[in-house]
Amino acid sequence: MNKVALVTGAGRGIGAATAKLLAKQDYKVCVNYHTNAETAQQVVAEIEAQGGTAFAFAADVSQENEVIQLFQAINKQYGKVTHLVNNAGILFTQSTLADLSVERFNKVLITNVTSCFLCCKEAIKQMPSGGAIVNVSSAASRIGAPNEYIDYAASKGAMDSLTKGLSLELAERNIRVNAVRPGFIDTEMHADGGEPNRIQRLSPQIPLKRGGTAAEVANSIAWLLSTEASYITGTFIDIAGGK
Ligand code: NAI
Repeated sequence: MNKVALVTGAGRGIGAATAKLLAKQDYKVCVNYHTNAETAQQVVAEIEAQGGTAFAFAADVSQENEVIQLFQAINKQYGKVTHLVNNAGILFTQSTLADLSVERFNKVLITNVTSCFLCCKEAIKQMPSGGAIVNVSSAASRIGAPNEYIDYAASKGAMDSLTKGLSLELAERNIRVNAVRPGFIDTEMHADGGEPNRIQRLSPQIPLKRGGTAAEVANSIAWLLSTEASYITGTFIDIAGGK
């Protein structure tokens, strides 16, 4: 199979680690990014330096027209998308539900869930038998993130339901749909949430006593995409140090 992977929000963090790992495993990779072209180009340069194949493409994946353009660009460069990682996501500063605005709530839902829906919708129009999707959900979907970001937790809960439903819709086509549910991964996202040192603060409460790395999440994503996971669909891997 000509393996062509789209990783959304791949300019940094878990997405970047996943794009780099997939390139090492002979996927041609589209490094989607939203606004920061420089970091996305850096990811592509690292992949190419190691002999891999990748290109960067800017698209706000919460917008249907931009998702369509993104897939057209990939089709032109590499052919049909065979593997999809819905990684793009946002959270805002820690807050109780009472203090959340409806604008923020809707923005989180659109960015985290509508983007996943739109990319799945485009991908499955072209994905061959043997293709696979991994959605990057969160431990927050199980825990609920009280006093921090219930909006974010709710968006990840919706991703879990979408994962389950779509896995059943696509099983007959032999397209597998799974999710990873990371937690406490050391990336720049926590600074966006208003607490850059969140992982250090919470480490004593994590059974494995440390945060995880983006590379550790990428390993599970790549495995779920691979033929090694060929009998696995509609399931979730929790990557949260035992939490
Ligand atoms: P990150 O903030 O580095 O990565 C998120 C990426 O998504 C960024 O590159 C951002 O530019 C991109 N993005 C946001 N909105 C976008 C849009 N509309 N279109 C295209 N790209 C967009 O953070 P991290 O940690 O690498 O997060 C990756 C995924 O992992 C997210 O879905 C996040 O919710 C999830 N996650 C992270 C955890 C952690 O502890 N870091 C825990 C659980 C889940």
